[in-house]
Amino acid sequence: MSTGNADFRDSGLVFPEGFTFGSATASYQVEGAAAEDGRLPSIWDTFSKTPGKVWNGDTGDVACDHYHRWESDLDLMAELGLDAYRFSIAWPRVIPTGTGAVDQRGVDFYSRLVDGLLERGIRPVATLYHWDLPQTLEDAGGWAARETVDAFATYAEVMGRALGNRVHTWTTLNEPWCSAYLGYGQGGHAPGRHEPAAALAAVHHLNLAHGRAVQALRATSAGDPEYSVTLNFHVLRGEGEGAGEAMRRIDALANRAFTGPMLRGEYPADLLEDTASVTDWSFIRDGDLADIHQPIDVLGVNYYSTATVRMWDGVSPKQQNDGHKAAGGGTAWPGSNEVVEFVQQPGPYTAMGWNIAPEGLEELLLSLREQFPDQPLMVTENGAAFDDVVAADGSVPDPDRLDYLRRHFTAAHRAMTQGVDLRGYFVWSLLDNFEWGYGYAKRFGIVRVDFDTLERTVKDSGRWYARLAATGILPE
Ligand code: FCB
Repeated sequence: MSTGNADFRDSGLVFPEGFTFGSATASYQVEGAAAEDGRLPSIWDTFSKTPGKVWNGDTGDVACDHYHRWESDLDLMAELGLDAYRFSIAWPRVIPTGTGAVDQRGVDFYSRLVDGLLERGIRPVATLYHWDLPQTLEDAGGWAARETVDAFATYAEVMGRALGNRVHTWTTLNEPWCSAYLGYGQGGHAPGRHEPAAALAAVHHLNLAHGRAVQALRATSAGDPEYSVTLNFHVLRGEGEGAGEAMRRIDALANRAFTGPMLRGEYPADLLEDTASVTDWSFIRDGDLADIHQPIDVLGVNYYSTATVRMWDGVSPKQQNDGHKAAGGGTAWPGSNEVVEFVQQPGPYTAMGWNIAPEGLEELLLSLREQFPDQPLMVTENGAAFDDVVAADGSVPDPDRLDYLRRHFTAAHRAMTQGVDLRGYFVWSLLDNFEWGYGYAKRFGIVRVDFDTLERTVKDSGRWYARLAATGILPE
């Protein structure tokens, strides 16, 4: 693969020695092999097979077939010169029914993957939960039920024992906001429930699952891994009269509902008040907040775009475009659905319809430093979907994605020069993959996947990223 100097000029922006350049994927989005080696369905298998839930009826049955092609995918990562790979473990491969028997074949797959990464000098960053809850657990109540937390802690123990001597960084959850509010409130994600009270119970149980998993991983990991969680922060702009109130409400539900308990050991009082008509939060038990509030080494930050909110007048048609996964949905905000509206934001947009706002990343990193001054940060996802066109020579020029990444890396660098302790950056995604409700229609990869042949082709953005990873200097 050519990453020759002739292709890209240096911008002069230098990232510090030791800064981690990585890329990310998630199990259901890339693995395929959905019924192999004892894996049982997750909520995403069920959801994607329910007519009308996913674009074109796409499923993760085959996805990128990474389960079989992992070795050549690791070679690709080595060719790109990645320092680290953020992947997730499919709970239904390891403990197919969520509780009870461990399937060693599932554990062995991840063990081989981790060894393969280490052999290639790539640090394994393993996420325990990127949304593929075993269906059996959902049938028993899912994240709305407290028992799921116990099951998750046991699963964490199993993985800590199996891989904790080799994993560099453990991440408990990916974007619990999506799991709780989209899964149980808005319904655009699996399991597709529309129960605002269950969404808030899920918030708490996911928070508790994080804390219990950190404890379980710490108790069982034989090495000295780092511990983290990944949150998708909402970077908010306000409009109209009451803009501040609209922003406060959404900030409470989207951001502080997680950072409060995880990083401060308490739920924000205003969150409890705003949601009082939905739930009394009696699912919080004595000792839960202490369990949730575990020290973590890095806070994972996923950032794609901003969101603009205003107080709804209750009369005019409500706008509902929150700039991320809940676009078009109506009930993602328990307690504030009838109060706040999300308004269309200024472009330009990616193929997801998400606005491109690199300054939002700088602002977010600075705000997190201000709120949690001693907490090191890691961008665990940033990237963009565009409708790529394969050139006649087979190459994939993707100038829009490359530009998106260059501008967001610049924003992150700017935050670092203002004192933000940012340790690394993972581009979403290594591969084009199953983009949840959008199926295979949206391509986020820096490597193209032809979903007919499963052939991989490094895009121009991938070559650009390889150069950044090799030099630590941002290429133009
Ligand atoms: C994030 C998810 C990730 C991917 C990107 C585009 O919300 O964590 O799996 O879908 O969005």
